[in-house]
Amino acid sequence: MRTVALGIVAMACLVAMAQGGNFFQDAEISWGQGRGKIVDGGRGLDLTLDRSSGSGFQSKNEYLFGKIDMQIKLVPGNSAGTVTTFYLSSQGETHDEIDFEFLGNVTGEPYTLHTNVFTQGQGQREQQFRLWFDPTQTFHTYSIIWNPQHIIFAVDGTPIRDFKNQEARGVAFPKSQPMRLYASLWNADDWATQGGRVKADWSRAPFVASFRGFNADACVWSAGAQRCPVGTMETAAPARGGWWNQQLNDMSYRRMRWVQRKFMIYNYCTDTKRFPQGIPAECKLR
Ligand SMILES: *[C@@H]1O[C@H](CO)[C@@H](O)[C@H](O)[C@H]1NC(C)=O
Repeated sequence: MRTVALGIVAMACLVAMAQGGNFFQDAEISWGQGRGKIVDGGRGLDLTLDRSSGSGFQSKNEYLFGKIDMQIKLVPGNSAGTVTTFYLSSQGETHDEIDFEFLGNVTGEPYTLHTNVFTQGQGQREQQFRLWFDPTQTFHTYSIIWNPQHIIFAVDGTPIRDFKNQEARGVAFPKSQPMRLYASLWNADDWATQGGRVKADWSRAPFVASFRGFNADACVWSAGAQRCPVGTMETAAPARGGWWNQQLNDMSYRRMRWVQRKFMIYNYCTDTKRFPQGIPAECKLR
């Protein structure tokens, strides 16, 4: 009898986790004067953009390592000039940052998924992809897995990028500055779509990007200390998803290579023109 009851409680918790957090509880709209709205009793959040402003939200918590998932449905139709972002960032000159940015396009032409990693204030590590689905038709899950050894970008559970800790070879890695989650929808029609040649069509405004399923299985930074969910660093971790020790196994590595071969459209590591002094150190290492 007792085990059955416990089983039901455990199931209820799992369901709650799978559905993700509540935006009222976990996030706050940070700008846009009413253009961002929490919807569906806290399960969703819509950001809008019109000619005078975009909008954005941020997590209430700061994190130092974690697995952050967000389901996003991007601006449909003619989204030229719009940029939807989902990223982690710390504060200050020497900040760390882990970026997902979605650059809109005219109807029927593909979005560009832009990723970047800043460490100690230095970025210039762009990798861009096409998606293998239409990101405006329904929600898809975008994840950042950030642990002491890896930053893994994943789309619907498929890794697309793995930025490894290469401190031993002199490449900085984000590991001591807590980061907050930010998301925004804004107008970047001076550069975003086809290099800025295609402008936003304001007759189609307001543009809407929808978010739901925000889930942070993460170590929360509070009063100068890091608090991780129970079991994060223990050997039990893999049973919980195990992001603390997560790295690519053979199968996930092969899936990432498949995405990179078929869908990567820009890689700073192969842009030799841009780095006449030599490509960045982390690119030379496997
Ligand atoms: C938009 O579509 C054009 C044509 O297919 C493509 O060259 C471009 O990379 C796409 N994405 C952006 C953000 O311009």
